[in-house]
Amino acid sequence: TTGSGAGREDEKDRQLEEFRDPPKPSLTTDQGVRVDDTDNALRAGDRGPTLLEDFHFREKVTHFDHERIPERVVHARGSGAYGFFEPYASLAEYTCADFLQEAGRRTPVFVRFSTVQGPRGSADTVRDVRGFATKFYTRHGNYDLVGNNFPVFFIQDAIKFPDFVHAVKMEPQNEMPTGASAHDTFWDFCGLQPETTHMLMWLMSDRAIPRSFRMMQGFGVHTFRFVNAEGRGTLVKFHWKPRLGVASLVWDEAQIAAGRDPDFNRRDLWEAIAAGDYPEWELGVQLVPEEDEFAFDFDLLDSTKIIPEEQVPVRPIGRMVLDRNPQNFFAETEQVAFHTANIVPGIDFTNDPLLQGRNFSYLDTQLIRLGGPNFSQLPVNRPVAEVSSNHRDGYGQQVIQSGTSYFPNSLGGGCPAHAGAGADLAAGVFTHYQRRVDGDAIRRRSDSFQDHYSQATLFWNSMSDWERQHIVAAFRFELGKVENVPVRERMVENLNHVDHGLATAVAEGIGVTPPAKPAGGGHNAASPALSQANLLAG
Ligand code: HEM
Repeated sequence: TTGSGAGREDEKDRQLEEFRDPPKPSLTTDQGVRVDDTDNALRAGDRGPTLLEDFHFREKVTHFDHERIPERVVHARGSGAYGFFEPYASLAEYTCADFLQEAGRRTPVFVRFSTVQGPRGSADTVRDVRGFATKFYTRHGNYDLVGNNFPVFFIQDAIKFPDFVHAVKMEPQNEMPTGASAHDTFWDFCGLQPETTHMLMWLMSDRAIPRSFRMMQGFGVHTFRFVNAEGRGTLVKFHWKPRLGVASLVWDEAQIAAGRDPDFNRRDLWEAIAAGDYPEWELGVQLVPEEDEFAFDFDLLDSTKIIPEEQVPVRPIGRMVLDRNPQNFFAETEQVAFHTANIVPGIDFTNDPLLQGRNFSYLDTQLIRLGGPNFSQLPVNRPVAEVSSNHRDGYGQQVIQSGTSYFPNSLGGGCPAHAGAGADLAAGVFTHYQRRVDGDAIRRRSDSFQDHYSQATLFWNSMSDWERQHIVAAFRFELGKVENVPVRERMVENLNHVDHGLATAVAEGIGVTPPAKPAGGGHNAASPALSQANLLAG
């Protein structure tokens, strides 16, 4: 069963219907020629060699030989579902995004949940971040909210992402270990890069082993920008809250589930939807007027920081229901292509250096992963909005285009023209948010990005006793597997800036001498100055 939402049909379903290929009894070649025998290759004589002239054999095996495409470089393992989003009320005061204008007007969505580290065939219930990516098929184009189940990230600048992923992935010589992030390279990177500390607190908490995708929060992480019809910007952070509440496994359960049923989370999502028990999330926003951009003791452009909800409450703006399983895992869940730069009129970027880098990376990787520039024509990626461009050709072109394909053009011939002067957001035309950009070209992190511990401490302080016990146990388990002693010690030193009790408890569990209480109480102390040079010297 696909657990299709009984009776519910939207623009996206109707579009997908054109591409669905029901099973048919009669076997043909890809040229539509009926096949007499698919069990025996054509051969010369009873026991002779196979003949090259057997076009059915050659086509069958060739196609099979090409079935695999590269898995995603991160977030390779995932599960997807279709559904809809509907706002509670118009958000026109803040944004002219078409799908947020009218209470109750439904926009089709496709969501993919994922783990980050493991390959496609890895287990679901590993300690890891979970991806939570949503594609809204809006009338003004596709909008992708490509988030995670934690509100912060490991690094502040996208240029560190390849380093981070190389450290977190399996060892190059033997592709071990899989699943858990318990190995020297990961902790080496994190210890040397103290900006990871806040995210590590989330990663060692029970949030990193969700019981179900249906019981998981989601976050856009970055500060984005809403823009209204008058062109006024409002800074915005996105939050998904599951109707079922947030629930996690405990570590022992997670390990048992990984052994007994590596598809634990995938199965749970599929079966719930198939049974009509549709999972639901509420979308909330934290809104910050542009003039308050500098009103915080952290930088809104720093993705290792949350905006505490005591300072800016989350305002619920709508709900999302997932009510249809995909028909074909490869065609839909594997070929879906999310991209942070897929935005629509009314939503815009900020200068967050992690977001800016992501805006380059996703399209780039999809060009190779999905085999060329036409992957937005794949059924799952196709907008329901009209597409009309002067792009031509390329591998896998599905459209029989007509007319000329250049602009400006005095000869006509059907080539589409840009909306031109006077076009604006209110008319559903994307115009980049006008903002002043000025400064010297420098490779340097802003001073406002330097505090790596305060919010890690905030997180620790917000935990109950049993949650703290789980965090300590997780650090002990993971760091206890690290063979390199200085790597363990450096991590304990970083934790000492978060909380002395935490660092001591972890140290005692992994055979490291507990550190002295840091001067000045810890979390506001400057990051340990660890340059690569003095490490190598030391
Ligand atoms: C994939 C989230 C940072 C590069 C993904 C996916 C999610 C995600 C949810 C899976 C999408 C899917 O289900 O298909 C995030 C979040 C980040 C972050 C929340 C930080 C806030 C980065 C950075 C880079 C990056 C900094 C690169 C500079 C990629 C790539 C993929 C990916 C290359 C694979 C995409 C594909 O093959 O389609 N990310 N990511 N991510 N991410 Fe990120």
